[in-house]
Amino acid sequence: MTITNKQSGTNVHEIAEGIYRINTPVFYEGGIGAFSFNQYLIVDDEPLLFHTGLRKLFPLVREAVANLMPVERLRYIALAHVEADECGALNDWLAAAPHSSPLCGTVAAMVSITDLADRPPHALADGETLSLGQHSVRWFDTPHLPHAWDCGLLLEERTRTLLCSDLFTQGGEGQPAITASDILGPSEALRGKIDYFSHTRNAGMMLERLASTQPTTLACMHGSAWQGDGATLLRALAEAWQL
Ligand SMILES: [Fe+2]
Ligand SMILES: [Fe+2]
Repeated sequence: MTITNKQSGTNVHEIAEGIYRINTPVFYEGGIGAFSFNQYLIVDDEPLLFHTGLRKLFPLVREAVANLMPVERLRYIALAHVEADECGALNDWLAAAPHSSPLCGTVAAMVSITDLADRPPHALADGETLSLGQHSVRWFDTPHLPHAWDCGLLLEERTRTLLCSDLFTQGGEGQPAITASDILGPSEALRGKIDYFSHTRNAGMMLERLASTQPTTLACMHGSAWQGDGATLLRALAEAWQL
């Protein structure tokens, strides 16, 4: 693990071949306490950053990306859904990387990103794949899972890494960068305090579809990334949610 900013503790760690977690710990006084925001950088011919990070974290995330590759090389700035931590810094990234485009699902493109972003989005339809060079990503529409109509996730097919956004959100600073220990328990404990799940009745079906892709790494947006039998863990999540 490399610390890229001593003051904030922002750090980078390769969690799968060519895929780097960028982690910044934060602290919410009087609220949930220690928390973390992660972005994932896929370094390839056409590099992709999944989640922009909060607008106010942009200088830190930019510094972390620059530690790994020239920021101007970024080709896709991807987001799972429209919220500040997923895409608050989108226009800052578009300015920093002149050849980059927003990458999102068709609903986010239609409802928000075509208007919010300074350049038009590259919208992926459900099931569509996009080659980045050695890596390729497939988009899955997951409306309202875990929240927001425009939700979707990306699977990096070469490393079977599911960029799972807010699924399995854990509290704390997000260390270790990657773990094989239980993350469902800590994530459900946090959800007991802040229920970020929309309770869509279609969640079970969508989790089963994600499980069928058999991911081996789950790249969580908040907390540690996870390595193991992703299908079993996704099905355990569906069970925990009594779907
Ligand atoms: Fe979210
Ligand atoms: Fe989030």
